[in-house]
Amino acid sequence: MNPPATVYPVKSAFAAETRITRDEYQRLYAQSLQQPDAFWGKVAERLDWMKAPTRIKDTSFELKDFRIRWFDDGELNASVNCLDRHLETRGDKTALIFEPDSPDAPAQRISYRELHERVCKLANALRALGVGKGDRVTIYLPMIPEAAIAMLACARIGAVHMVVFGGFAANSIADRVSDSGSKLIITADEGLRAGRKVALKANVDAALKLPGTNSVETVLVVRHTRAAVDMQMPRDRWYDAVVDDQPVQCEPERMNAEDPLFILYTSGSTGKPKGVLHTTGGYLVYVSYTHEAVFDLREDDVYWCTADVGWVTGHSYIVYGPLANGATALVFEGVPTWPDASRFWQVIDKHRVTIFYTAPTAIRALMREGEGPVQATSRKSLRLLGTVGEPINPEAWRWYYEVVGDSRCPIVDTWWQTENGGILISALPGATDLKPGSATLPFFGVQPAIVDTHGKRIEGEGEGNLVILDSWPGQMRTVYGDHQRFIDTYFRTYPGTYFTGDGCRRDADGYYWITGRVDDVINVSGHRIGTAEVESALVSHDKVAEAAVVGFPHDIKGQGIYAYVTLIAGEQPSEALRAELVKHVRAEIGPIAAPDHLQWAPGLPKTRSGKIMRRILRKIAEAGSSELAPDQLGDTSTLADPSVVDSLVQERRVP
Ligand code: WT7
Repeated sequence: MNPPATVYPVKSAFAAETRITRDEYQRLYAQSLQQPDAFWGKVAERLDWMKAPTRIKDTSFELKDFRIRWFDDGELNASVNCLDRHLETRGDKTALIFEPDSPDAPAQRISYRELHERVCKLANALRALGVGKGDRVTIYLPMIPEAAIAMLACARIGAVHMVVFGGFAANSIADRVSDSGSKLIITADEGLRAGRKVALKANVDAALKLPGTNSVETVLVVRHTRAAVDMQMPRDRWYDAVVDDQPVQCEPERMNAEDPLFILYTSGSTGKPKGVLHTTGGYLVYVSYTHEAVFDLREDDVYWCTADVGWVTGHSYIVYGPLANGATALVFEGVPTWPDASRFWQVIDKHRVTIFYTAPTAIRALMREGEGPVQATSRKSLRLLGTVGEPINPEAWRWYYEVVGDSRCPIVDTWWQTENGGILISALPGATDLKPGSATLPFFGVQPAIVDTHGKRIEGEGEGNLVILDSWPGQMRTVYGDHQRFIDTYFRTYPGTYFTGDGCRRDADGYYWITGRVDDVINVSGHRIGTAEVESALVSHDKVAEAAVVGFPHDIKGQGIYAYVTLIAGEQPSEALRAELVKHVRAEIGPIAAPDHLQWAPGLPKTRSGKIMRRILRKIAEAGSSELAPDQLGDTSTLADPSVVDSLVQERRVP
């Protein structure tokens, strides 16, 4: 089966100073399962509660008795935990380091005291604009300090933030604004990425012309590039004009632990993206504790997570986890490969970064540029590396370990999902021996299990679908506005368990190896794209009759998007039309959803009942330019017209 993996034992330097040793991991893990109330009750003491919780865990995944409630008589405010409580001891400590897109632009350091003031001012401004507890606020910003400030200002007044990734187009913004019923949008004139401008305000303007977006009363515009933008009064207001004169103190809202903190949309296998809803108490307990334990956090660390705040990694491990822990977190506006492939490593040297957390896709892209750009820098400040977003191939792992970390720094490969709130499976650097490509072992309170397609539990070594048997505090509570969809998506496939949508193998040491999605979700550069979303964007073009989209292995992105398109009768395929369709998807969803390959399909392989057999399309896409014998496609006898497969194989694109 699988050859034994090389083991990288715990480093003695980590073992000597770690917060959690190997023995302690085992002891605490056992306690977390046997006495969850005692365990999480103690962990919850790490936060400042306005009213300490007396009830800890109240959860059941059984459909007849379904509930997920944590700390549910507790009261707290997330922004107070991220800011106010640090003022006395860490007021002058840097909370955020801002490194702009251009290396020539000055970096900024924002202390906890200053961050507190800026959050309070915006929170006061939001209240003055009529935003209150429970109202939804859309945040569509570049990676600038105002993104974190906006999230925390919402949290301060009990408004529910909904961040939209800056790479999404008008349609995607409109869908999310409409589904969430947002009252206000915080955006910027433009974003900057690799020296190029992103027309954020113009995208918001276009989104607000689309149906369903009438709930929006106000658009606050941060002056970032200072480009001239259309301001539509009285709807549009300059951020600085409404914020500058606000008082620097702001009474925080008392929130119940189970009150919503934010909504974040993520793709699933069917339909439109789901509004994943996270609540205040459990989420904050979980992200602050995992951030401290997994990254073995120390007071003087300079911590850098390269994610965008538009994704959950940015929420949990740039903003809420690090700031709740009083850490110094770096906010980076740029990209890894601009102005050149040593930018990451230069930023690490410039700010003496100690903990660096990035995605396998970035590592693979930089690995392609060779060791030169890395060797040109020192990276001596680094002590710990992390990855997230997709399985990391052992080759990339070793390059990250040997070249970037000089074989000095452990790598924590952290497996989790938007729905999870925080890390569920990961090494703890002072406790866990590493195996390249394995996320290793479950975090406290997390009970993974592997089941076959019938739901039968696989014990010991084996491979199947990954489920989680019981709740953890950071878990999502519902799909915003559609609780039934929440239950149906995650708890009906294997009743009594949370189904992750991932395949997984467990080895003889009990280590978990995530093998990737088993549903119709594609993981492109660590970003989730639903095949149904891309298909519906394609068929919205008036020359397209039908489309089927699958993932295929991609050297840098992990998975790429492969689209099969059937044109309406009378339309002729052409290179120009191909380019037009790719552009159409970019405009409909955003650049991350643009197909890497688009193949004309005179017909799609369907069963007699009309269901598209994606398994076959996946095989053809995966084969790329290599030979594809008919028997490699599996059983095609149930197809209504088996001959369509031959023509697809003949005409396949060579990725
Ligand atoms: C999917 C979740 C939450 C982090 C960002 C992605 C894949 C995530 C790993 C990892 C293997 C991973 C899974 C998961 N994934 N981390 N360390 N090893 N696979 O969040 O967009 O909700 O995607 O990303 O397939 O289901 P997301």
